Amino acid sequence: MKAAFIRTHGDPEVIEVGEQPYPTLKAGEVILKVHATGLNRLELYSRAGTRGTKLPDESMPHILGGECSGEIVEIGMGVSHLSVGQRVVVNPHCGKQILGTTRAGSNAEYVASCAENVIPIPDSLSFEQAAGLPTVYLPTWGIIIREGQLQKSETAVVLSSSSGVGTAAIQIIKGVVGADCIAVTSSEEKIGKSLALGADHAINYKTENIKERILEITNGKGADLVVDSTGALFFEDAYASLARGGRFGICGVTAGYQSQIHLGQLFSKQLKLFGTFMGSMEELKNIVHEASKGNISTHIHKLIGLEELKDAHEEMEKSEHFGKFIVSIN
Ligand SMILES: NC(=O)c1ccc[n+]([C@@H]2O[C@H](COP(=O)([O-])OP(=O)(O)OC[C@H]3O[C@@H](n4cnc5c(N)ncnc54)[C@H](OP(=O)(O)O)[C@@H]3O)[C@@H](O)[C@H]2O)c1
Repeated sequence: MKAAFIRTHGDPEVIEVGEQPYPTLKAGEVILKVHATGLNRLELYSRAGTRGTKLPDESMPHILGGECSGEIVEIGMGVSHLSVGQRVVVNPHCGKQILGTTRAGSNAEYVASCAENVIPIPDSLSFEQAAGLPTVYLPTWGIIIREGQLQKSETAVVLSSSSGVGTAAIQIIKGVVGADCIAVTSSEEKIGKSLALGADHAINYKTENIKERILEITNGKGADLVVDSTGALFFEDAYASLARGGRFGICGVTAGYQSQIHLGQLFSKQLKLFGTFMGSMEELKNIVHEASKGNISTHIHKLIGLEELKDAHEEMEKSEHFGKFIVSIN
C-alpha cells in the first residue's frame, strides 16, 4: 500500500512516499481504509525523533500520521461495537501507544488501530472534517468544558490562536459555550483570521503587552480562563492577567517547558492551574456531535495529498499556518 514513512529521524526531507506492507490485523483491533488524516505538531517531533519520540532502528521504516478518519475494512477478534463499511474517526492514543509515534501511523492507504479508540461518524460529517477533530479538540474540550467549566458570562483567552489547538479553542469558546474570547497571536494577518473565526478581541503579542491588554478588554477584571498550548513564552504574563477564581489550562509547551509561578497569586486569587492530555472517547463523541451540528469545525489551513506532506511539515516548522493541514488519501 502507498504510505508516507521515514527510514531515519531528521528534517522534513527524511519523509518518503512509497510502498509499505498492509497492516496485520490483531485481536481487539480494526483495519481502516484511510480517507483523511490531520497533521499535528506531535508528528513533527515524531519525524525528528525529539521530545521523547526517538524510535529504535528496528522500528524503521516507520509510517507517520496520527488522528484519521476512514472506513472499516476488517475487524479483529473480540470487537463487537463496530462493523465493516462503517465511517469512523480514530483517536490516535491507542492504550499506551500513539498512532504515528510509537506504532505505524495513518499516513497510508490502510491503518490498524485499537477498536476502543474508534467511533462512528454521521454521514453529514466529511472525512476531512472528522480527521482533524481528535487531537486538537480533546485537550481543549478538557480545558474549557471539563476542567475549566467556562460559563457564557465569562471571558476566555486563547494563547497562540493560530495553532491547530488555538483554532479549536476559539470555536469551543464561541460555538459551544458562547463566552467572550480574546485571541493572542503573532501577526496582524493571524489576528484578522482569529477574529474571522469568531474571536471577539485579539492581541498581537509581538507588539502589545498581553496582561495590560487583557485587563483593558475586561475592564480591569482579568481573564476567567486561559487556554495555553505554547508554554514558556507567555505563561507569566497570561497567568498574571487571571481574574479572581481564574483557571489556567495547559496542554502544550511548544515554546518551552520552564516558567516561574507566582505562588502568592495562586492562593490569594484562588486560581486553578491544570494540564490536560487528550481526553475520553465520551468527550470525542460530544465533539463529533457538536461538529455534526455545525457548532465547531476543523479549521483547514490546507488540504493536501501524501506527496505534499514534506512541504506541510516544512511550513508548520515555520509556524506560518493558521489551523490545520489535512491529508486527503484514497
Ligand atoms: N496535551 C495534548 O493532548 C495535546 C494535543 C494536541 C497538541 N498538543 C500540543 O499543543 C501544542 C500545539 O499543537 P498544534 O498541533 O496545535 O501546533 P501548531 O498548529 O503547530 O501551532 C504552533 C503555533 O504555536 C505558536 N508558537 C509560539 N511559539 C512558538 C515556537 N517557539 N515554535 C513554534 N510555534 C510557536 C505559533 O502560533 P502564533 O503565531 O499564533 O503564536 C505557531 O503557529 C504542541 O506543543 C502540541 O504538542 C498537546
